[in-house]
Amino acid sequence: MRAVPPAASAEQIRDANTRYHDAAAHHYDSKWGIDFGETGQQQVRTKLRKALGGAQGGRARYGDSLEIGAGTGYFTLNLLLAGVIENATCSDISPGMLKTLASNAESLGLEVATRAADAEQLPFEDESFDLVFGHAVLHHIPDLPRAFAEFNRVLRPGGTLLFAGEPSLYGDRIAGVPKAFGRRLAPLWRMALRAGPAAPPPPAGSEESLEPVVDVHAFSPGELSRMTREAGFEHTRVSGEELVANWFGWVNRTLEHSANPDEVPWAWRQYAYHGYLILQQLDRRLLESLLPASAFYNLMLSARKPQR
Ligand SMILES: C[S@@+](CC[C@H](N)C(=O)[O-])C[C@H]1O[C@@H](n2cnc3c(N)ncnc32)[C@H](O)[C@@H]1O
Repeated sequence: MRAVPPAASAEQIRDANTRYHDAAAHHYDSKWGIDFGETGQQQVRTKLRKALGGAQGGRARYGDSLEIGAGTGYFTLNLLLAGVIENATCSDISPGMLKTLASNAESLGLEVATRAADAEQLPFEDESFDLVFGHAVLHHIPDLPRAFAEFNRVLRPGGTLLFAGEPSLYGDRIAGVPKAFGRRLAPLWRMALRAGPAAPPPPAGSEESLEPVVDVHAFSPGELSRMTREAGFEHTRVSGEELVANWFGWVNRTLEHSANPDEVPWAWRQYAYHGYLILQQLDRRLLESLLPASAFYNLMLSARKPQR
């Protein structure tokens, strides 16, 4: 596991995460192509099935769920819409993200409880939930053993722990290649699309400049499963997803990032979004059964709290 950068203390990392995500909240869904329709529901169902493993994953249903680092609601709201969870609580260190989540829930006609909370100090009673889960959040948390102890405490005996969208060590390093390719291609790409360059980099101290501080870990499958077992969970399962789709996504995001967002044509955005979805299928149907978890960009984890 890549360690917390020594330049930032755990407190600074938590503070940077709060400010960075508060500032990102209003454009987060459009930046990441978050969908609450059939596509979004299909994506979260597929992730759940893959994380839990075939047969069990397809049938999973939960009463009380708690999402950690729920952001604008991508996972919880789609699981509610898909009928996988009944009563949802969403927590996040960023009140701004939870505000956007609450407004997304309202426009979808869904009821969700929200609570601003640090994953390392959850404001919930012991044994309150049947499912504790998260998407793309573990890599932001400074003290993971402390957070895993909290996940265990708030889960009921026999309850399920599930995380997806966590960067793998290897995938994170490889992602440097499509990003570098995108940077080199950017001037030519902007010329072809007649898009002007993006605004200059954010000044030091602004929220956007916090990006290098907020991501503190990338994981190997072995480390993720060891950490889960050491926190007292059983039936630990770690798998990987997204390889080619991710390379494609990083090239496109780097290109888009280099341009004035208002001048990136709609047709390009459609191509990038649908291309990504098609390559996700290729990864799922072909590569995920052939390659080891560590080869993929995203890792997913599931485990169970033992019965008493
Ligand atoms: C990459 S975003 C993912 C959001 C959402 N899960 C999704 O997949 O769209 C990471 C989220 O984790 C939250 N976060 C970061 N550090 C946290 C912490 N220590 N405790 C709880 N949430 C945290 C951030 O505020 C942010 O909303």
